[in-house]
Amino acid sequence: MGLFDPFVKSDPSVVGIDIGSHAVKVVEISRRGGRPEVVNYGVGPLPPDAIVDGEVMDSEVVVECINDLLHDRGIRARNVASAVSGRSVIVKRITMESMTDDEAAEAIYWEAEQHVPYGIDEVTLDFEVLGPAEDEKMEVLLVAAKRETVEMHTAMLRDAGLVPYVVDVDSFAVQNAFEANYESEEGEQILLLNVGASVTNVNLLCDGAPLLTRDLSVAGNAFVDEVQRTLAVDREQALGLVASDDEADRNRVAPVLETVGQDLLLGVERSLSYLKGSAGSAEVSRAILSGGGALLGGLQPYLSTHLGIPVDVANPLRQLACDASLFGEGESERVGASLMVAVGLALR
Ligand SMILES: Nc1ncnc2c1ncn2[C@@H]1O[C@H](COP(=O)(O)OP(=O)(O)OP(=O)(O)O)[C@@H](O)[C@H]1O
Ligand SMILES: [Mg+2]
Repeated sequence: MGLFDPFVKSDPSVVGIDIGSHAVKVVEISRRGGRPEVVNYGVGPLPPDAIVDGEVMDSEVVVECINDLLHDRGIRARNVASAVSGRSVIVKRITMESMTDDEAAEAIYWEAEQHVPYGIDEVTLDFEVLGPAEDEKMEVLLVAAKRETVEMHTAMLRDAGLVPYVVDVDSFAVQNAFEANYESEEGEQILLLNVGASVTNVNLLCDGAPLLTRDLSVAGNAFVDEVQRTLAVDREQALGLVASDDEADRNRVAPVLETVGQDLLLGVERSLSYLKGSAGSAEVSRAILSGGGALLGGLQPYLSTHLGIPVDVANPLRQLACDASLFGEGESERVGASLMVAVGLALR
């Protein structure tokens, strides 16, 4: 969403760094030789109170987690692409009078005032012209983030000794990773669901642009909390249970999946219904599930059954060259979904 520090050009690598409330995920992509290649990755857990509702509560803990993770994984590259999320980020498809990009760059401030609940001098703005709309107008994707949030975010990365040269938004990074790995047909509507710990990013994609983006507050934590409550286990045990491949464990958590899955489904359907009836809205053809929550036992078949469309767990590494020693047998499929945002960022 903007350039902050000059890119260290001598370094052909970019580290995509996804700072989530559950864990920091990093993916290093090198462009040595032109073609992007995944050369390293890592996941570093965060304590539950370091980031709450997308807001960094304890930046020292986060900086330490990032430093440890990069050190442990032997990642030396310093150019990082990262993302902000949460309430301080607003993404909206708007229509405005047709004009040139230069004119739009000025007019966007006036437009944004009607769509952004913060003072216009408090936000950083970005936009993309999507194409013509009816009545001499054009469709524009407006992105606004609270300046304070972006500044705190980049300061934290600099404290970790990094060079933050791109700050993006989670749902766009998911889209970027999707586009690098999957084909879609013209006019096809694809639902991207990125299920994290505290947030599920919903992005309905059509012809390379979001028809709709929404953040839902039902995500992995809701499942873990409910498992903890109904099965009277502690948090560690609950985290193990929702990730378990064991048949008996799966049966134990299945009822929780029904209740919390229903909440998630409702949120998704409500988001989609907002578009129903609007001109040109076709049917959603399939969904791609990413984020650590994509791996929650039974979620993928549950959503597929209830949405009535194919739902696939994302593998953002499927079309990318990878260092052969990086992933063991089946590992990229196993962790891939949780690296979706980090991959999308590193490809910037
Ligand atoms: N292998 C797994 N199986 C099942 N669930 C998993 C697995 N790995 C992670 N999870 C769940 O996924 C969630 C974490 O996903 P992710 O790492 O995408 O979240 P995050 O990006 O840190 O959070 P957020 O973006 O919401 O702040 C947790 O609720 C965790 O329980
Ligand atoms: Mg996340």
